[in-house]
This record gives sequence, structure tokens and C-alpha cells, in this order.
Amino acid sequence: RVVAVIMVGGPTKGTRFRPLSLNVPKPLFPLAGQPMVHHPILACRRIPNLVQIYLIGFYEEREFALYVSAISIELRIPVRYLREDKPHGSAGGLYSFRDYIMEEDPSHIVLLNCDVCSSFPLPDMLEAHKRYGGLGTVLVIKVSAESANQFGELVADPVTNELLHYTEKPETFVSDRINCGVYIFTPDIFTAIQSVFTLRKETANLHRMNSFEALQSATKTLPADYVRLDQDILSPLAGKKKLYTYETLDFWEQIKTPGISLRCSALYLAQYRCISPHLLATGNGSKSPTIIGDVYIHPSAKVHPSAKIGPNVSISANARIGAGVRLISCIILDDVEIKENAVVMHAIIGWKSSIGRWSRVQAEGDYNAKLGITILGEAVAVEDEVVVVNSIVLPNKTLNDSRGI
Ligand code: GDD
Repeated sequence: RVVAVIMVGGPTKGTRFRPLSLNVPKPLFPLAGQPMVHHPILACRRIPNLVQIYLIGFYEEREFALYVSAISIELRIPVRYLREDKPHGSAGGLYSFRDYIMEEDPSHIVLLNCDVCSSFPLPDMLEAHKRYGGLGTVLVIKVSAESANQFGELVADPVTNELLHYTEKPETFVSDRINCGVYIFTPDIFTAIQSVFTLRKETANLHRMNSFEALQSATKTLPADYVRLDQDILSPLAGKKKLYTYETLDFWEQIKTPGISLRCSALYLAQYRCISPHLLATGNGSKSPTIIGDVYIHPSAKVHPSAKIGPNVSISANARIGAGVRLISCIILDDVEIKENAVVMHAIIGWKSSIGRWSRVQAEGDYNAKLGITILGEAVAVEDEVVVVNSIVLPNKTLNDSRGI
């Protein structure tokens, strides 16, 4: 029996995702037309003997209530949101709900960060984990040496795949193999987390004996119930024949900024070709727009047949796309209206926004640059014949002259 746990974090974690995270918790932001968290959930569905999926976070329960009940019915597998009263860290959060997780008597726990985009090769990873026979297996990927320091860098034995050394976001280069934020553990992970708590308590007691030191440590140490999976568990257990690695050669991205979400949308749309081709627009039929490459259009959206859409376009519920509109590499959120002959390129258009006739909303399309894509927050109105380039526009603004050029 396998239980999957997806760490969704909470509102304070999504600040880099503004202004889009002002409206919706980041894990529910749509990529390729489906909430971000939906993609790892679908991947978990492919694990044999999966009995339950938990989302653990510190968002309000009501924010996830609708989604988890709909997805439980759709997938016919119980998906439940568990709310922490405050952040406990990636391992502390898991530990807080150990009783719920152990109720299912799992042999394995699959643990996923919500903010990663991947093909999540979970069944193969589980098989590898069983062969290794360790406490945990970490999904890893090779990245460029320049980008590795944004992640946990690790060294593994090339023959046995044992995790030999782990450093979280190191200042000097350690390795171009990084932690993907996808793990498989045996229930012994709870004992490992428990021993960090015990160590913390002992250290705190020692400090209490010396009030000067206590003052110093109060500013340095973490709360006793805050445990990070990477620094507090992976680093100390590396090289002890307890942790192993499974390397993916498939796609993987970390979704920290809206710019990257556009790239992740493209990756998931491309994946639909293999796993859910019915979700891709075909452009067949006289009433269909011209479709180029991978495009998702929600069934309730209305797209004029003379519009030209794609590649990498996702159009959400109730959007209206007028005659002669051209859309390239963009995410169009719910209830957006794009009027005749407007162009949107490398942009995210927020809920209920409108773009006037002959207007252009665009950017260069460098997903890593701060202004590499243009983002309109909720209910932004771009009037007719206005050009918006490389801009982030806060909610409820009206743009009546061209900007960002
Ligand atoms: N429920 C809950 N409670 N979730 C949390 C908490 C918490 O207190 N703290 C973090 N998370 C969730 C985040 O939402 C995210 O999904 C995951 O745990 C990891 O977040 P961080 O601990 O902030 O780490 P990070 O995202 O900067 O880096 C981690 O992931 C990278 C891969 O994306 C590290 O493990 C890196 O080593 C790794 O490369």
C-alpha cells in the first residue's frame, strides 16, 4: 500500500508568484489548463496500490475544499487537504500528520513538492527504491553547473546510486546533480524526523543552562518543531547507506515565478500528446480556429473561427477570443475577453481582464528574465490600439496608452 503526500506550502511562500497568487493559491494556478497540483496528482494515480493522496499546507481549508472533492470523485481515489496551523518545514509538515498517514498502514510514502513540473516517473522510481532497500530514494536530474546552486546539490555513487553527499543551495559548486523535490520513503522516515526533534530539544535544554548562549541561539536556531527535509534529514543521512538516488532524463523545472509557469505549461501540453491527447485542441471543423502546435481550450471558452492560436496556448473557462486574434505562448485565465485583431504573445492574462481591438500585449519570451513575459493581474482593461510590452500590471488597472516600449 502506498500513500502520496504533496507539500503545497502556504500563502507566505507564494510571494514571487505575485500578482497571480493574489487571487488563487499558487498550487491551484492553471498550467496547461489544469491546476499546478493536478499534474503530480495524475502522476500519483499511476502508482500501483495507491490508497490515498494528502495535500499538506497552511492555506485556509476552504481554498482547497472544492478542488479536492472534485478530484476525488473524478479519479476515484481519496484526495484530502490537511492544514497545518503554522509552517513546520517540509519534513515537520509531513510529521504533523503521521497519524493520518500511518492509518493507511502504508509500505511506502511518496512525497512531492507541489512547485515542480516533471513527468514524475513514480512507478519506475518505486521499483528502483525497492531494489535499493533504503529508507528513501530521491529523484535527481543533471542541470547546468551555473544553475545548480539554486537547488540541493548532491553526489551519488555511480554504481550503487547511494546518496553520498548532500548540500542545500551551496555557495561553492558541489555537483551538477540536483534534488528534484520528489521522494519515496519507507515509514521509517518518521523515526528519522523524530530524532531531529529530540536533538533540537536536547540542544535547547543545553542552551537554557547558559542564558547568554540562549539569547544568541534564539536568533539563530529554528523552532523545535520546524524540520526541513533537505538540511535536517538528507544532509545528515547522506553516506550512511540509507538514501539512494534515481536520475530522470525527462523534463523537470522548479515553478517559482510566473515566467517559468509559461514554460511549464508548454511542457505539460507536450506531455498531453502521449498521456491525454483528448485535451489538445485539433482545429478540425469549419467553426474551429486555426491551431498551431499544442493548445488547450476549455470547453466553455468561445474562440472565433478566424483566430489563430498556438503554439503553447492555454485558454481557461468562459474566455472569449474575437475575430482575427493571434495568440502565441500565453495563458489566458477565466472570463478574459480578447477583442478583434488583438495580439497576445509570451504573456499571462489575468482573470476577467479585457484586451481591446488591435491592441498588443507581448514580451520577448525569456522565461528566466524578470520581465521576460508580460503579466496582467485580475480585471485589467487594455483599451483599443494600446501596446503593452515587457510589463507586470497590477489588478484592476486600465491601460489607455502604450507602455513598456
Ligand atoms: N506544508 C508545508 N509546510 N509545506 C512546506 C513548508 C511547510 O512548512 N515549507 C515548505 N513547504 C513546501 C513548499 O511548498 C515546497 O513544495 C516544498 O515544501 C519545498 O519548499 P522549500 O522547503 O521552501 O524548498 P525549495 O523549494 O526552496 O527547495 C526544495 O526543492 C527543490 C526542488 O524544487 C529543496 O528540497 C531543494 O533541494 C530542491 O532542489
